[in-house]
Amino acid sequence: MEYTFRIKRYDPDVDVKPHFEEYPIDLEPTDRVLDGLNEIKWQQDGTLTYRRSCAHGVCGSDAMRINGRNYLACKTLMKEFGKKITIEPLIGFTVIKDLVVDMDQFFAGYKAVKPYLIASEAPTSEERRQTPEQLDRYEEATKCILCASCTTACPISWTNESFLGPAAIVNAARFIYDSRDEGTLDRLRIMNTQSGVWRCRTVFNCTEACPRDIKVTNIIEDVKRTLLLEQV
Ligand code: SF4
Ligand code: FES
Repeated sequence: MEYTFRIKRYDPDVDVKPHFEEYPIDLEPTDRVLDGLNEIKWQQDGTLTYRRSCAHGVCGSDAMRINGRNYLACKTLMKEFGKKITIEPLIGFTVIKDLVVDMDQFFAGYKAVKPYLIASEAPTSEERRQTPEQLDRYEEATKCILCASCTTACPISWTNESFLGPAAIVNAARFIYDSRDEGTLDRLRIMNTQSGVWRCRTVFNCTEACPRDIKVTNIIEDVKRTLLLEQV
């Protein structure tokens, strides 16, 4: 079937401002958007620039705006759209080239929540065991692949650079509710700052955008409730 990819292009070395270019392409409805981008890059225009790695929805590197919504190109089938699709880089970030954005600020927010296990006891040869109920408390947050779809769909993130954003909060929650972790208080204090959860206005864009079906807004609300109950 003949499709048209309308792609926002920008090369800061030669372009004064971004512009759209159109590429006709033959694809099956069951092909993925990433297949189309690869086909264009490999057969029509080698200068087209975008990130991708695993091609299976695991690495989180190919999040982009397709017809105005955030998707992972490798997990999105052509049959979800009409014959013409518009592809743009994630909004809210500086564009480095075409669909590649500068994610330094996003990862700075992620690092700020200490996304690693903090435990005073040295590891032993045994696992740090948990009950299924203890795992259940945070397991959903472990599905995050750091694609930034949620954070770049969030209107608060667009207007407030200091907001840590939904993805950082999900990754804070991943450890806040882990029974083995001893950094909970630290992370809750970070969540309680002006950059933390109280900036969230419960818009639900993050939940809608998440390609891993993580209930991002519920996790943020969970952290807010914990802050109200704990003496932080
Ligand atoms: Fe991507 Fe979902 Fe993680 Fe946000 S919570 S970064 S949308 S996987
Ligand atoms: Fe890895 Fe799409 S290429 S998630």
